[in-house]
Amino acid sequence: MKSLTLFTLGLTLLSKVVYSLDFVKRCGDQFVLNDKIFYFTGSNTYYLHYKDIDYGTPKVFEIAKKHNFSVIRTWAFMDQAYTQGNVYYTSFNNVTREIEVNEGENGLQRLDRVIALAEEHGIRLILTLTNNWADFGGMEQWVRDFGFKEHYQFYTEPEIKKSFKKYIKTLINRTNTVTGKKYKNDGTIFAWELANEPRCWGTNMGKNENCTTKTITKWLDEMSTFIKKHDKKHMVSTGEEGFGLAGVDSENDIYGFGDGNDFIANAALKNIDFATIHLYASYWGFKDFVKEGRQYFEEHAKAIKKLNKPIIMEEFGVPKDKLEEVQPAYMQSLVDNGYNGIMYWMLAHDEYPDYDGFTIYDKNITVYIDDYTKIQKSKSGKKISSLKCLLKNLETKGDHKNN
Ligand SMILES: *[C@@H]1O[C@H](CO)[C@@H](O)[C@H](O)[C@H]1NC(C)=O
Ligand SMILES: *[C@@H]1O[C@H](CO)[C@@H](O)[C@H](O)[C@H]1NC(C)=O
Ligand SMILES: *[C@@H]1O[C@H](CO)[C@@H](O)[C@H](O)[C@H]1NC(C)=O
Ligand SMILES: *[C@@H]1O[C@H](CO)[C@@H](O)[C@H](O)[C@H]1NC(C)=O
Ligand SMILES: *[C@@H]1O[C@H](CO)[C@@H](O)[C@H](O)[C@H]1NC(C)=O
Repeated sequence: MKSLTLFTLGLTLLSKVVYSLDFVKRCGDQFVLNDKIFYFTGSNTYYLHYKDIDYGTPKVFEIAKKHNFSVIRTWAFMDQAYTQGNVYYTSFNNVTREIEVNEGENGLQRLDRVIALAEEHGIRLILTLTNNWADFGGMEQWVRDFGFKEHYQFYTEPEIKKSFKKYIKTLINRTNTVTGKKYKNDGTIFAWELANEPRCWGTNMGKNENCTTKTITKWLDEMSTFIKKHDKKHMVSTGEEGFGLAGVDSENDIYGFGDGNDFIANAALKNIDFATIHLYASYWGFKDFVKEGRQYFEEHAKAIKKLNKPIIMEEFGVPKDKLEEVQPAYMQSLVDNGYNGIMYWMLAHDEYPDYDGFTIYDKNITVYIDDYTKIQKSKSGKKISSLKCLLKNLETKGDHKNN
């Protein structure tokens, strides 16, 4: 009887935690899940929290699960100025001059639901905390709210940084209203990401001479350190595109430092766990998509190896008329260059319009992604001891100062 009770209790506990996802951690230049090396594919879906959350959002997770995607990147920001369907996360209080957080049903409870659905489908999330671009508010909205004029002031004005930290802390300390878990204890969150594509200039505000790579590196350092102070379990990354890489092609803007990014300095920061890159060959004026794309992947993989950290290709979009030629070449090159995570832009459910021409829907995932998901999976699973991991994280192969 006694053992039966224990057995039943065990079952009850098991059934309660059946969907709990363990934390993915960094081990040297690898991701590790349950002491095993972890490579993955995934995608991006920015609209999970506000568009059709009852139908579209579960559909996205079903498609992702069907194709064995491990990670989806989505927005954990949305300002009242860009409210969609009455949903927003933050607003400016012009009396107290503070950013207020909306924890209601039309606020962070939407993010709760997205995280709960992700967990239910066994998928982890990269949660991005603000946007370099005007979509959904982002940096420039906050700069305007506080009465400033320059894009870079998001990175430098004490009042804005204080509010950003308040927002971060609210998320980290939040208890999910669906799962009952604290965000900071939830392995469904793969990583916090400081910003989508942080640069010195944005949608409506240009570059100011006061903004240099140091401006952004300093901000990334301060904010990643702040997150790690309050959340020791989750990884943190930058969300940058990979600009600013010396010694490749100084004539080419994407390797230059003019937009305010120093890829190595940022990836080397002590509280940044992994590097990210993005690639849009059609926007960036590539003449030879395949050749120039491969070079971009190779050079960043080479650079990050020296830092002993993992790297994720987080966003890349190929126009439909080039998909057949370019997508497999990109996927193969990313695999060959050891990218720990490969995520394309973007995944949507079938009924969602292809606004930017880069959406790869369910059917084409089978054509263009599945083979590489299998390869990433086959590279995963090798056991690694925790002690070895600790040592690996201490190894620094290059000599890179943080600032
Ligand atoms: C997904 O994983 C399952 C289990 O390992 C496998 O049977 C299936 O073929 C995989 N599907 C794809 C699309 O990778
Ligand atoms: C503050 O916001 C209110 C409501 O939107 C508006 O009426 C008022 O003019 C604003 N005050 C300032 C100082 O911007
Ligand atoms: C964290 O959340 C709890 C409630 O879940 C609250 O009592 C506490 O004040 C919060 N702490 C911080 C530092 O925000
Ligand atoms: C650069 O920053 C300084 C000090 O805050 C300020 O006085 C100056 O006006 C800024 N320059 C520009 C071009 O905004
Ligand atoms: C699938 O990819 C092909 C290119 O191979 C493209 O022409 C087609 O429009 C895509 N289908 C959808 C639904 O996006």
